[in-house]
Amino acid sequence: MTPEQAFAEAMKFENRPNPYPFFDELRKTPVARTAHGIYVVTGYKEIIALAHDPRVSSDLRNGSLLAMIRGGDSSGAPSDADSGMAEMLDKYGGDTMMILSDPPDHSRMRRQAMRHFGPPHCPDLIPSMEEYSVRIVNDLLDKLKGKHRFDVVDDYAYPLPVAVICKILGVPVEDEKQFHVWIAEFLGGMDLGPEAATEEGKRRQAKGRESRTELTKYLIGLIERAEKKGGEGMIAQLVHDTGPDGRMSSSEILQNCILLLVAGHDSTVNLLAHCVLTLLRNPGSIDKLRKRPELIPRAIEEVLRLESSVQFFPSRSALSDIEIAGTTIPSGAPIFLMYTAGNRDPAQFPDPNTFSLERDAKESLGWGAGVHTCFGGPLARLEVNVGLETFLRRVRNPRLVVDPPPYRPSQIFRGPLHCEIEIDGIEDRGAS
Ligand code: HEM
Repeated sequence: MTPEQAFAEAMKFENRPNPYPFFDELRKTPVARTAHGIYVVTGYKEIIALAHDPRVSSDLRNGSLLAMIRGGDSSGAPSDADSGMAEMLDKYGGDTMMILSDPPDHSRMRRQAMRHFGPPHCPDLIPSMEEYSVRIVNDLLDKLKGKHRFDVVDDYAYPLPVAVICKILGVPVEDEKQFHVWIAEFLGGMDLGPEAATEEGKRRQAKGRESRTELTKYLIGLIERAEKKGGEGMIAQLVHDTGPDGRMSSSEILQNCILLLVAGHDSTVNLLAHCVLTLLRNPGSIDKLRKRPELIPRAIEEVLRLESSVQFFPSRSALSDIEIAGTTIPSGAPIFLMYTAGNRDPAQFPDPNTFSLERDAKESLGWGAGVHTCFGGPLARLEVNVGLETFLRRVRNPRLVVDPPPYRPSQIFRGPLHCEIEIDGIEDRGAS
């Protein structure tokens, strides 16, 4: 199989439940040129090197990727061709989000956002979400009492992170029904696989663009309201920022709020669902974690290594020719750092396809690497810890109904669409 064929297979929807044999195939050439001149990187050490290389840009405007994926432009930036918001572009167009920018703008935006999210300025925000998360997951399980079957994704993994990120940003959680559909369609339209060229693929991309526009308009509404009336949460804090870096531009605020709303829940849902799925696939691990809950944080990192929620982020390109692993990546070429493949590189993780509670997976690429390493990791870890610990304590004898479960379409954000389980019941809150 050529690298090009292996990459196309790994991206195909039908292989979403198990793309790993194709990543193994690709890793035979750790830096491989594939369709459209994309350089796909699957070796752990090559990913680490490129993620830290200042000659690699995350700004879509620097490479040829933007033109290639214009149909499903992942920047979230409104364009007058499809947004119908020309009058707003002066204020809300032009700038981009931190994940699609390079230093020094990247470092500035990250600092400006972090001031309202984590230490040293907001050391209590993330810890204060623990009690809220515990309440949410217990309420969710209380609602499932009397049932013998439920969907781990819709009934449990999704509602927790969405409620938490809404609270942090100051987005009304009652709007979730509306933006859930927009976000699902927006992400579903970002297809980087062979199916993008089919009629169905084109329909999904068009729908994705429409939904992105709706999401953008919705967030502009929240930003304008915060400008006039202030309010609780990060949106209002970013709008009225008085920190040493000043205020982000209006379009940076918009773009980063889209990023925080989407990134702030989507991958967490996938990780929590994958935790349940992986434990159910590995008999004995549930009992072990029930007896030794102190191993739960380690189990979560190991699940993220094994089933990366973010397989890659298609933003990077070479700013000059880069020699690596016997290949020259030419200036301007798109580069996909396949975290998901690096996480199963046997040179870094012996017996990489095995879930092991003995493994120390802290070198995993599940949170990315380099300057764009996940901004929200501590929050996601807290949520998944609470979600998993409560699940293990209260859900009696969970069994998978179908394996593999159906997967979501996105190649970038990989996770089950649903994960039905049968159970013997739900324990009371206080039971141990
Ligand atoms: C299990 C959950 C999560 C996983 C697996 C995850 C994974 C990642 C990865 C792999 C990246 C790097 C992307 C790249 O290389 O370009 C990233 C970046 C980012 N994540 Fe997360 N993420 C999670 C949760 C969150 C949460 C809860 C938030 C927000 C509260 C968040 C916000 C961000 C932001 C803003 C970036 C961009 C950082 C930058 O460009 O400097 N993520 N995430």
